[in-house]
Amino acid sequence: MGDPDTGSSGNGLKRQLESLWDQKKPLFHSWFKVLLLLSLLLYPLCYMLSDRSVLLWERFQLHRHYTQLFNRTYQVRLPPYQVHPKHRLIEGEIHKTTPGGIQYHYVYPHNYQFIIDNTEVCKNTPFLVLMVPVKPDNVKARDAIRRTWAKDSVVQGEQVVTLFMLGISGGIDAETLKKENLHHQDLIQSNFIDSYFNLTIKTMVIMDWVATHCQTAAYAMKVDSDMFLNIDNLVIMLQKPGLPKVNYLTGMLMWNRPVVRSNNSKWYVPEEILSDPEYPTYTLGMGYIFSSDLPEKIVEASKFTKPFNIEDAYIGMCMKMLGLAPTSPPDPSQFKAYNTRYDRCEFSKIITYILDSPQRLVNYWKDFKKPGPYCEKV
Ligand SMILES: *[C@@H]1O[C@H](CO)[C@@H](O)[C@H](O)[C@H]1NC(C)=O
Ligand SMILES: *[C@@H]1O[C@H](CO)[C@@H](O)[C@H](O)[C@H]1NC(C)=O
Ligand SMILES: *[C@@H]1O[C@H](CO)[C@@H](O)[C@H](O)[C@H]1NC(C)=O
Repeated sequence: MGDPDTGSSGNGLKRQLESLWDQKKPLFHSWFKVLLLLSLLLYPLCYMLSDRSVLLWERFQLHRHYTQLFNRTYQVRLPPYQVHPKHRLIEGEIHKTTPGGIQYHYVYPHNYQFIIDNTEVCKNTPFLVLMVPVKPDNVKARDAIRRTWAKDSVVQGEQVVTLFMLGISGGIDAETLKKENLHHQDLIQSNFIDSYFNLTIKTMVIMDWVATHCQTAAYAMKVDSDMFLNIDNLVIMLQKPGLPKVNYLTGMLMWNRPVVRSNNSKWYVPEEILSDPEYPTYTLGMGYIFSSDLPEKIVEASKFTKPFNIEDAYIGMCMKMLGLAPTSPPDPSQFKAYNTRYDRCEFSKIITYILDSPQRLVNYWKDFKKPGPYCEKV
């Protein structure tokens, strides 16, 4: 518009700002000092408060339903935990990441004792040990598994052992279980109360059993009792050259899963138990495979990992505590959860599928094992 200042309006503004800045400089300085002083004062205060709040929170918890869950006051006399020298570093890491070293006892498996433990079952150094959590009275599920994917002790030339992990519950007496074990030698029982809420304990007891009774196996798998397991494909996957032999956890990976807060859900976790909005990466509980060095480390990590009732996510949490993460399987499409119908061709390619009844497992397996090609020629 011909205004001589037009071309330099930007500079004019800048100059104005600069002079304003010069005027405000001393003011700014003193504000800065006040802020610095405040933060110096606030930091130790916050630190103290956070410590205090933990204590207050603890006391609050003691009077709540979850008292038993966080029973930290109860110092169990634990035998000194033997950590293999090659894992010492990781144990050190755990202590570093837990200031104050709060220990949790609820899921720490050494608090529970084995009633049936089949100590000899891994003496032939199996390649793979399958650990199946199952309710004590669910004999039907165990029998279906014994007749199907646990039937052969040698798969693709490798020794495979299948064991059932039980807690204590009604519905079946100890003598009947003893007899069942005498017959099959495949039961492991520990003295915690077997309930849905206690599945994390069950999983940790599985980890403890593998760590203390079967570390000579190359791999272990936690696999639910309602699964179709293509055991051949699983062993073939584990035989793949280059597959990690340590710190390996694989299965169907769950990323960025939010913690379920609706209290009518089966997976509900109240904020008092776990405040994190999301779980760390974990492997879906239906079936996950791990190298046999991991259980010992996970058991150790559980001492410092706040317990909650979602067993698979809890393993993810322990892994995170160890500075580890699950690995994607060579072919992620082999780990399937729900399917709508049986398809012989499809079932010949996968490793896992969730089924809804022991009878279905037996029926599908019968068809699956029929001679002849799995898939129609196209
Ligand atoms: C903690 O657990 C032990 C053993 O189960 C029990 O004796 C003790 O009373 C419990 N403490 C609290 C505060 O519940
Ligand atoms: C879980 O197991 C512990 C140890 O046996 C027991 O004290 C507790 O009552 C059980 N909780 C539930 C909800 O079953
Ligand atoms: C469950 O959640 C609903 C909605 O958030 C709430 O109104 C109800 O009081 C909760 N029930 C319990 C038992 O916490």
